[in-house]
Amino acid sequence: MDVKKLIILGSGTMGHGIAQAAIFGGFDVCLYDIAQNFLDKAKDKIKGSIEKHFVAKGKITKEEGDAIFARLKTYTNLEEAAKDADFVIEAVPEDLALKKKIFAELDKICPVHTILATNTSVLPVTAIAGATGRQDKVVGTHFFNPAAVMKLVEVVLPIGVAEETVETAFAVAKKMGKVPVKVKDTPGFIVNRLLGPLYMEAAQMVLEGTATAEDIDTAMRLGAGHPMGPCELADFGGFDVIQMAQDAVFDYTHSEASKLNILYRKMLEAGRLGRKNGKGFYDYLPDGTKKPFKLF
Ligand SMILES: NC(=O)c1ccc[n+]([C@@H]2O[C@H](COP(=O)([O-])OP(=O)(O)OC[C@H]3O[C@@H](n4cnc5c(N)ncnc54)[C@H](O)[C@@H]3O)[C@@H](O)[C@H]2O)c1
Repeated sequence: MDVKKLIILGSGTMGHGIAQAAIFGGFDVCLYDIAQNFLDKAKDKIKGSIEKHFVAKGKITKEEGDAIFARLKTYTNLEEAAKDADFVIEAVPEDLALKKKIFAELDKICPVHTILATNTSVLPVTAIAGATGRQDKVVGTHFFNPAAVMKLVEVVLPIGVAEETVETAFAVAKKMGKVPVKVKDTPGFIVNRLLGPLYMEAAQMVLEGTATAEDIDTAMRLGAGHPMGPCELADFGGFDVIQMAQDAVFDYTHSEASKLNILYRKMLEAGRLGRKNGKGFYDYLPDGTKKPFKLF
C-alpha cells in the first residue's frame, strides 16, 4: 500500500520524535494529542531541532527546513485527524486499557484500508489488535528514544497480522530513514529481552561489590565495544521502565536471568528513577557531569 497520510497519536517523548523522522522522510503528518499545549510544545521541539541540528550545521537550507516543518499539522480532534488516514502510529502512555480504547475508536473512524500501529514497549500487540475488527491490519512499530535519531524499528507481529501489513510497516519505517526488523509479539521483543539480563547482572555485580558501576561501564565500553555501559544505559532507559519490561519478560520466559534484580526495586523505593530525575547508578549534576552514587 502506498501510504500518503500518516497520523501520529500522542506528541510526547516518542510521538514528537517519530513525527520529526516522518516529516524528514517526506510524509505529510497529522500529529494528534488531547490538548493544544502538548502539541505546541512538540512543534517547538521539532522546529528547534530542525534549526539546531540541520540548518545551523549547514545540512539543509532554511527554506528546506521550513518546507519540512510545513508537512506537520496538529489536531486535537481525533475524528478529523484520522478519518482519511492510511497509516496510524499510536504513541500514547503505556496503558493497555487506554490503547485498547483508542484502537477501538480508530477502528470506527478510519477507512477499511487503514493500518493501525502501536509503539508499545511491553504491552501485548495482539491484545491491542483484539480491540479492533481488523486484526490483520494491526502491527507494532517499536521506535527507540530519541526517535528522531535512533535507526531501529522493531516491527512486531501479533497473531493474525497480514503479510501486506508487515510489508507496509517496513516501507513506512524505511521511508523515515529507519532500519526495520521483524519480531513476533512476545514481551521485550528483541532489544529489551536481550538487554534485561545484562541490566540484571550488572546490578547484581554492583550489589555484591564485585565492581563499581563506573568500572562495569568502562569495562563494557572498552572491552565489549558497547557505546554505553549497562549501568549508564539503565539510567538512560529509566528504572520504572526497566521494572515494567522485566516483569513482563519474566512473566513470559520465567528465566532467572530476566527476573528484576532487587537493586532496581530498592532504587525505585528510594525515588531513584535514573537519568530522568537525575538519580540512578550515578547522580547527574546541574553542570552536566555525573558522579557515582554510593549505595551504602
Ligand atoms: N520514552 C521511551 O523511551 C519509549 C521508547 C519506546 C517506546 N515507548 C512507548 O511509547 C509510548 C509513548 O511513550 P512516551 O514516552 O512518548 O510517553 P509521553 O508521556 O512522553 O507522551 C505521551 C503523550 O500521549 C498523550 N496522550 C495521553 N492520552 C492520550 C490520548 N487519549 N490520545 C492521544 N494522546 C494522548 C499525552 O498528552 C502525551 O503527549 C508508550 O507506549 C511507551 O511505552 C517509549
